[in-house]
Amino acid sequence: MAKFQVIDNTCLHRGGPLGEGEMDGDVVTCPWHGWQYNVKTGACLTKPDLKVGCYEVKVEGGDIKIALP
Ligand code: FES
Repeated sequence: MAKFQVIDNTCLHRGGPLGEGEMDGDVVTCPWHGWQYNVKTGACLTKPDLKVGCYEVKVEGGDIKIALP
């Protein structure tokens, strides 16, 4: 079964599209300048004091539900 993680799409460096970044395990790399984020926590690995939004995901039947603030 597929796993889903949801984080904000906007990189905290200069707004790059994280959804277009390469995944390696739990880490996505921003395609613009290479900042990295853990997709399970939103934590920025490049600047540990920063974090993007990270949202709970549930799969119910054929639906994917995201808990947005
Ligand atoms: S905009 Fe993402 S690393 Fe620069």
